[in-house]
Amino acid sequence: MELIEKEIARLKEERRAVILAHYYVPDDVQRVADYVGDSFYLSKKAKETDAQTIVFAGVRFMGESAKILNPQKRVLMPDSTADCPMAHMVTAKAVEDMRRQYDDLAVVCYVNSTAEIKTHSDVCVTSSNAVHIVKKLPQRNIFFIPDKNLGHYVSTQVPEKHILCNDGYCPRHNGVRPDVVRACKEQHPKALFLVHPECPEEVLALADYIGSTAGIIEYAGKAGADEFIIGTEDGVMYELTKRYPEKTFYSVMEGRVCEDMKKVTLEKVLQCLRDGTGEITVSDEVREKALRSLDRMLELAE
Ligand code: 13P
Ligand code: SF4
Repeated sequence: MELIEKEIARLKEERRAVILAHYYVPDDVQRVADYVGDSFYLSKKAKETDAQTIVFAGVRFMGESAKILNPQKRVLMPDSTADCPMAHMVTAKAVEDMRRQYDDLAVVCYVNSTAEIKTHSDVCVTSSNAVHIVKKLPQRNIFFIPDKNLGHYVSTQVPEKHILCNDGYCPRHNGVRPDVVRACKEQHPKALFLVHPECPEEVLALADYIGSTAGIIEYAGKAGADEFIIGTEDGVMYELTKRYPEKTFYSVMEGRVCEDMKKVTLEKVLQCLRDGTGEITVSDEVREKALRSLDRMLELAE
C-alpha cells in the first residue's frame, strides 16, 4: 500500500468515516473507497451508514443527496466544485409551468439534479430504477427532468404513460454518435454493446443491454460473451477489468471523460479527511422538501 493510501486508512478510522465512490472517479480513488457503486447504490449506502462522516467521492448532487438523507452526519466532498452540468439544465419555473397545465401530473426527477429542483419534484429516480418507479406511479402524465435521453428511454419502456421530457442532457453521453458505435461494432463483431440510457435514442437502438453503470457491470458478468463495447464513461473500466480479467472491453466513449468526476483525486480525499474541508450544507427548508422525493424513490424502488 502506498503512503497516501495508508494515511487515508488511518484518518478514516480516526474520524470514523466511510468513503463512498462513484464508478467514474479515478481508479486510485475507487481503490481506497469502502463502497463503490452507481447513484442508487450509493444513496442507499449513505442512508444506511452508521459512520460519523461520509466522504463522497463523486459530484455535487451525490454529496447533497447524502446530506439530505443523513442530516446528522458530516458529508465531505474531496472537491466541492465537482458538479454535474446536467443537474442545472432545468428550472423551477419550467416545473411549475408544467404543473399548471396538467391536474394529473407527477414530476419525476433524475437524481442528477440540484437539491432545490428536488424540492419541486414528486419523486426522484436513478437510471437503475426509473422504469420501475414510473410504472408504479398513479399519475398518467409524467414530467421527466432534467435528462431528455433517460426520459425518452423510460417512455419507450412504459408506453401506457404520457411522458413529457425536459431538454437537459449529459454533455458526455449525449455526444456519442451512432456511426461511431457502428464502426466499433464492425471492428469487434463478436462484442455486445452495453450502454447507459443517458445516450441518445439512436445509440440506444444499437444496444444489446441498456442500464446504469452498476447494471452494465453486472450484465457483463452474466452475459455469455467474452467481448463488450462499453457505452459509458471510462471509469467503469476499472471495475470491469478487475471483476472479469478474462474478458475484453472496448470503450465507445474513449476520451469523453466526465471532467468533474476526475477532479476527485486521492490527494483531495486525504485533504478533506485530514482538514474537514468540502463540507456540504443544505438548508433545513430545502432538506425537508427534497427528502420527500428521495425517500419516495427509496420506498418505490423496492
Ligand atoms: P449511474 O446511476 O448509472 O451510476 O449514473 C450516474 C451518472 O452520472 C451517469 O452519467
Ligand atoms: Fe453528469 Fe454526465 Fe458526469 Fe454523469 S457523466 S456526472 S451525467 S456530466
